[in-house]
Amino acid sequence: MSDPTWANHTGLFEAAGLTVKTYPYYDYDNHNLKFEQMLDCLNHVKANDIVLLHACCHNPSGMDLTNEQWDIIANVANQRGFTPLIDMAYQGFGDGIDEDAYGVRLMASNVDNMILCCSCSKNFGLYRERIGACSLIGATSQQADTALSILLYVIRCNYSMPPAHGAAIVETILDDVALKQQWHDEVKVMRDRINGNRRLLTQALTRQNISRDFNFITEQKGMFSFLGLSTDQVQQLKSEFSIYMVDSSRISIAGISDENVEYIAKAVAMVL
Ligand SMILES: Cc1ncc(COP(=O)(O)O)c(C=O)c1O
Repeated sequence: MSDPTWANHTGLFEAAGLTVKTYPYYDYDNHNLKFEQMLDCLNHVKANDIVLLHACCHNPSGMDLTNEQWDIIANVANQRGFTPLIDMAYQGFGDGIDEDAYGVRLMASNVDNMILCCSCSKNFGLYRERIGACSLIGATSQQADTALSILLYVIRCNYSMPPAHGAAIVETILDDVALKQQWHDEVKVMRDRINGNRRLLTQALTRQNISRDFNFITEQKGMFSFLGLSTDQVQQLKSEFSIYMVDSSRISIAGISDENVEYIAKAVAMVL
């Protein structure tokens, strides 16, 4: 898994009995990707290992791979023979519904085995309906069939039957041309709002004349970014300004608005 990753990944994979290790990913000091170190690490991964990648809108860092970096990682996956497990929980919230699938499609056409986990929690607003999809790619259709039968067995022993209503909603939308278009348009509204909030916050922080460059917030993608504050500064934001975020200073970009952005920027300037 990337260091860092969505906190629940560790719990999920360890509960499944897997040994979990991380590859370098986010550079907290420079607010960008440790791409060379990531590559160096992935170049040592063995064929029977699984490498978790975030399709887009990396949670918690907002730091995504560029298309060129995906190309390089796909080559490494092909050469090393490890199985990519791609988690796609925010499709459409980064650059676009198609654009955000670049890495997924590229990887699928480059490797023999792949697992894709898509969630509809966010981009369909169906958070607690447990709707998503798991797709398996095998080197041969026989291998894919075997993997599917194992997956169905695990599901049977785990939750037995998935809830049907969320899936029925998504199916209704995707099967209807007009509804699908409406969904595309509405996801665009959300994407534009998130990217707009990123610009709003960066501009408001810049106006505070803090000797720090916050442009990385505009360049990152999705619902989260690290502000780059210490735990003490995060505590101070909570106790003195009633601004809440996790100790790592991961902020929810969706919580920013025209009304609160100036207040947030002033408070961040104060604690800095
Ligand atoms: C990266 C990532 N994967 C998966 C999930 C959860 O998806 P689901 O609600 O479909 O379990 C989240 C957040 O909730 C997430 O951030």
